[in-house]
Amino acid sequence: MTENNTTIAVLGTGIMGAAMARNLLAAGMEVRVWNRTREKAEPLADDGAKVADSPAEAAEGADFVLTMLADADTVAEAVEGGDALSALAEDSVWLQTSTVGIQGHERLAGIADGYGVAYIDVPVLGTKEPAEQGQLIVLASGPEEVRERCQPIFDAIGSATFWLGPAGAGTRLKLVTNTWIVGILGVLAETVSLAEGLGVDPARFLEVIEGGPLGLPYAQMKGQMMIEEEFPTSFSANLARKDASLVLDAAEANGLHLSLIEAAAAHFDEAINAGHGEEDMAAVYKAVKPEG
Ligand SMILES: NC(=O)c1ccc[n+]([C@@H]2O[C@H](COP(=O)([O-])OP(=O)(O)OC[C@H]3O[C@@H](n4cnc5c(N)ncnc54)[C@H](OP(=O)(O)O)[C@@H]3O)[C@@H](O)[C@H]2O)c1
Repeated sequence: MTENNTTIAVLGTGIMGAAMARNLLAAGMEVRVWNRTREKAEPLADDGAKVADSPAEAAEGADFVLTMLADADTVAEAVEGGDALSALAEDSVWLQTSTVGIQGHERLAGIADGYGVAYIDVPVLGTKEPAEQGQLIVLASGPEEVRERCQPIFDAIGSATFWLGPAGAGTRLKLVTNTWIVGILGVLAETVSLAEGLGVDPARFLEVIEGGPLGLPYAQMKGQMMIEEEFPTSFSANLARKDASLVLDAAEANGLHLSLIEAAAAHFDEAINAGHGEEDMAAVYKAVKPEG
């Protein structure tokens, strides 16, 4: 472990936040963690993190606060209600990595402004395993002046950083990539379902596309989960549904009608209503699985 003088508060130690905190610790930073359910943050103490009882305690005098919480409401509650922003050191920076959509981003940027805290809109691409391996793709946007200070943090959590311009650009690109992800999952679920319905072994489908231009590694991974009907969570169906809503809201606000994403969102609703919300997003298959 290298030594580093940076102190960073990580608010949210779910699947992504816990993995990111571990990589920040491995990079030698002082990491304080807070999570609503404290027990989920406590294992990070073994890696050297200080576990705080409140967002304010985690952020007290810190150089950075990094939010990795479910949605915009949760983030706003932690940084404002939880007094995290007012507790930060002077000239500190807020790295907002949760996926919150355009309205969420605007709301959070407004809160940062009110506290005079520099705000980086920085959603990430990649799921549980890339987060654990420090291999996320970092979609950074915000003021140029703090870019250099943020880079060691992004290097610790990610394998590549794209600086995209003023805050908001990261969120817009994230919505575009989420359109792709939600769409793939919906089509993949229907493809596996049709294979089952036709008496075609869906493993054969994955086999014939593997390695060629159609054979996304992502399709192999999620397709296998659908075939086995085992859905250990890398990214929950609940949060994928939230992301579908953020995409649809952004589309509507720009006069677009994304009927494929609407259909995928309806499949997610069905899977969630059947009790699969906390399972991996591949559980969307449950909505389209052939009867019997
Ligand atoms: N997993 C992925 O593949 C992935 C990839 C890129 C981006 N993201 C985005 O990253 C964010 C976090 O995702 P994740 O997969 O890490 O989710 P997760 O494991 O479900 O963690 C969610 C976090 O939000 C907290 N939370 C939820 N509702 C809350 C509330 N009402 N009040 C306070 N805290 C609350 C949870 O606290 P508790 O532990 O107390 O429930 C936990 O810290 C989301 O915006 C997601 O869309 C996820």
